[in-house]
Amino acid sequence: MRIAPFATEHYYALYEFNTPHMLSSSDCETMSISELMALAGLGLDGLGGQRLGYTESQGNPDLRTAVAAAYDHIAPEQVVVLTSPVEGIYLAMRTLLEPGDEVIVLTPAYDALKNMAEHVAGRVQPWQLTPAADGWQLDFDDLERMINDQTKLIIVNFPHNPTGYLPTPDEFQSLIDLCARRGIWLFCDEMYRGLEFGEAGILPSAADLYDRAIILTGLSKTHGLPGLRAGWLLIRDEPTRRALLNWKFYTTICPAAPTEFLAMAALSAGETIVARNKALIRDNIALAEPFFRRWPDLFTWRPPRAGSVALVGLNVPSATDYCHDLAQTTGVLLLPGAFMGIEDRYVRFGFGRNGFATALTHYETYLEE
Ligand SMILES: Cc1ncc(COP(=O)(O)O)c(C=O)c1O
Repeated sequence: MRIAPFATEHYYALYEFNTPHMLSSSDCETMSISELMALAGLGLDGLGGQRLGYTESQGNPDLRTAVAAAYDHIAPEQVVVLTSPVEGIYLAMRTLLEPGDEVIVLTPAYDALKNMAEHVAGRVQPWQLTPAADGWQLDFDDLERMINDQTKLIIVNFPHNPTGYLPTPDEFQSLIDLCARRGIWLFCDEMYRGLEFGEAGILPSAADLYDRAIILTGLSKTHGLPGLRAGWLLIRDEPTRRALLNWKFYTTICPAAPTEFLAMAALSAGETIVARNKALIRDNIALAEPFFRRWPDLFTWRPPRAGSVALVGLNVPSATDYCHDLAQTTGVLLLPGAFMGIEDRYVRFGFGRNGFATALTHYETYLEE
């Protein structure tokens, strides 16, 4: 059975490793192994001593214990360590869905969330984020109207890529209550959790609120370590976890030993790493806001409530043509709307990288010329 193109990756495959000024990355600034070990207060010897045999399929128990410690209602045996975060989406959709099931997906959606659900279930209804004057909004009554007896799963992603949307704790609880009332599974992608800027602080994890939730998280975005390919699912329901592990035997069998070792180091230095990345995002947004104000006819800026990215309105006939030209003439990379499955009059900006100021300067020179 065919699957839709993974548009974001197809676009980045053209430019990511030959375009110097990344202005749309969703991951935060990364670091070397040496720097990571130093932040964790460890030398490099531990890594050198790692054995490269097979590892436990569900993940190293010490890593699972460290992951579970961040939640109130998650035990180490409810954590499934993956070989990459995106693998978790594949495994969860394969496990939860059958052809004919109905799925509601928060839209726009990271490609794998929508495309995998559609691939397995065949039917997906978009729960649409809509632009408001000062941000993005979600209609929770809309969701209630969309649910029917075939609805098996609701897929959300908070903080949201690409809009930076974050529900209030009350809104999030109402979503959980709705799922619980109807016995609907919730797949909650929490890859950007920890990057909340508002006074309410970090949104509670669905893992602590609902026993029929599957939570995806990992170290690629908030911690800026996508090269580790470290991610995990939190699954309280035992039969679902067992069924998912069976799928995992067909994909990667077990996590990579060096990754598990380094992931433990990253979690132990987590507070420092996340604080650093949040500060960088704030600084870069503070540069971006006056930039958008200087070009009011071109951009419509809706500040993100959380996360490392924002979806910015771009007043051009084709964001795709525009972004190709921008990348090819100035080496500045934005992600056009058409590659996020939305109107091609938006672009994604990413605020988590050190090179943001330089990239913005190059972009402004392009605009002035
Ligand atoms: C919302 C969301 N979920 C999952 C992933 C997958 O993370 P990774 O690429 O590290 O596997 C991404 C990556 O962009 C993402 O934005």
